[in-house]
Amino acid sequence: MNREIKDENNLNKYTQESKTKDINEIPDEYKIKDANELPDEYKIRDTDEMNKLEDEEKEKPKKVFKLNEKPVDISEEEPERKTLIEVKHLSKLYGPDHKAAIKLRQEGDTKAEVLEKTGVTIALWDNSLDIKEGEIFVIIGLSGSGKSTLVRCFNLLNVPTKGEITFRGRDINKLSKKEAIEFKRENIAMVFQHFGLMSHRDVLGNVEYGLEVKGMDKTEREKIAMKMIEMVGLKGNEHKKIDKLSGGMKQRVGLARALANDPDVLLMDEPFSALDPLVRNDMQFELLNIQKRLGTTIIFITHDIDEAFKLGDRVAIMKDGEIIQIATPEEMATNPADEYVERFIETATKKNVISVGNIMIKPSSVVRLKDSPKFAIATMRSNKISSAYVVNTQMKLAGVVTIEQAVEAEKYDKKISEVMYRDILTTTPNTMVNDVISTAQKARYPIAVVEDDGTFVGIVTKADVLATL
Ligand SMILES: Nc1ncnc2c1ncn2[C@@H]1O[C@H](COP(=O)(O)OP(=O)(O)OP(=O)(O)O)[C@@H](O)[C@H]1O
Ligand SMILES: [Mg+2]
Repeated sequence: MNREIKDENNLNKYTQESKTKDINEIPDEYKIKDANELPDEYKIRDTDEMNKLEDEEKEKPKKVFKLNEKPVDISEEEPERKTLIEVKHLSKLYGPDHKAAIKLRQEGDTKAEVLEKTGVTIALWDNSLDIKEGEIFVIIGLSGSGKSTLVRCFNLLNVPTKGEITFRGRDINKLSKKEAIEFKRENIAMVFQHFGLMSHRDVLGNVEYGLEVKGMDKTEREKIAMKMIEMVGLKGNEHKKIDKLSGGMKQRVGLARALANDPDVLLMDEPFSALDPLVRNDMQFELLNIQKRLGTTIIFITHDIDEAFKLGDRVAIMKDGEIIQIATPEEMATNPADEYVERFIETATKKNVISVGNIMIKPSSVVRLKDSPKFAIATMRSNKISSAYVVNTQMKLAGVVTIEQAVEAEKYDKKISEVMYRDILTTTPNTMVNDVISTAQKARYPIAVVEDDGTFVGIVTKADVLATL
């Protein structure tokens, strides 16, 4: 094998002498897969098929909408949203002598100085904000900055030292005991980082728990619970034991349980931080989907600025018990309130780098060097794509063959190795996605991912690379 390093981006221009030796079976995972796995841009249809589709289309009764019959709302204006929760001058202190601590803080001492002098922790200091109906409001900040303390004030787990929180105009700390119980049961629900599920109950048992407590009858609550289980993608797992579930599945149960109560507000305290990055990505996507469907207001805590920007309609950043900026992700990124926010965004984005191995997919068409051109053509046709990766006995990547080349080989009785491209772009699973972006943008085909020894392990498509931006 013969490789040249093309540039520091670790993209190797891969050239290999073709070997047409005896070839063993290719592992199943490299065999033809569902063509839907590939983005549309990599699929081609042949003309016959296109004509057939067109004919079929002509015969169908027409269901065409003109643009002006069903106008699409393309205005970027946000609907006017009502305030759901209003927080005024909220402070929360832990420790013995609040009075002295408050005085020192008012005189300009920092949180750390106050703690040193008085033993009082100022977990929250003079925060005012409002949460709008139907928004995802993200709270971000370093450990100890007060995120959980703030959110726990919303569901009465914490009692503020000073300040006021109103829910639809009513001060939640002035509710009677009965009203407070009702508020917690009907209006607000929480999803925790470590799931907080009941291990002696199965999935369904956990999801329907809140409804059971409310006294809803079994048929009705099961119907609702099953709907939620389906919504979070756990259909078929209703009777699984909690300890048989993966972290991602457990968090789906936590989410379904919270949603089953149909709360006005969902509090989520770092719900995805215990999950691995790919599962986390799926969960973020699904949460967005579900939220759009249900319209639930979500207050979401995270350490991760990328997660904050992905999910948040607005983001609040906290430091030492104070909110220092509330803004849309775009505003915050382009107009950070101060240097602290700016650095927070920078370091967090840098640390969160993804490697190619995290986003690569299995190619749908792989053929072996010794396969006949006819077989290669059939493979491509059944996958509806116009090229296939060619490997040798040891799954080492040898090249790419296009449908045209395969047709030519078939016609002139040549081998695949005589017609295929051997000069193709490759990268390794450990390469950072950042380093392949510019190449992926220009590449006509997905970039092949090979281990250092040349073993073909996957491909990265332009769409997947760009989606990480
Ligand atoms: N029950 C408590 N008693 C005393 N101090 C507390 C208590 N709960 C929180 N604190 C303190 O209040 C401050 C804010 O804590 P909080 O848990 O709200 O931070 P956080 O932003 O949620 O952090 P993390 O990201 O680690 O969860 C910290 O200094 C913490 O030590
Ligand atoms: Mg916390």
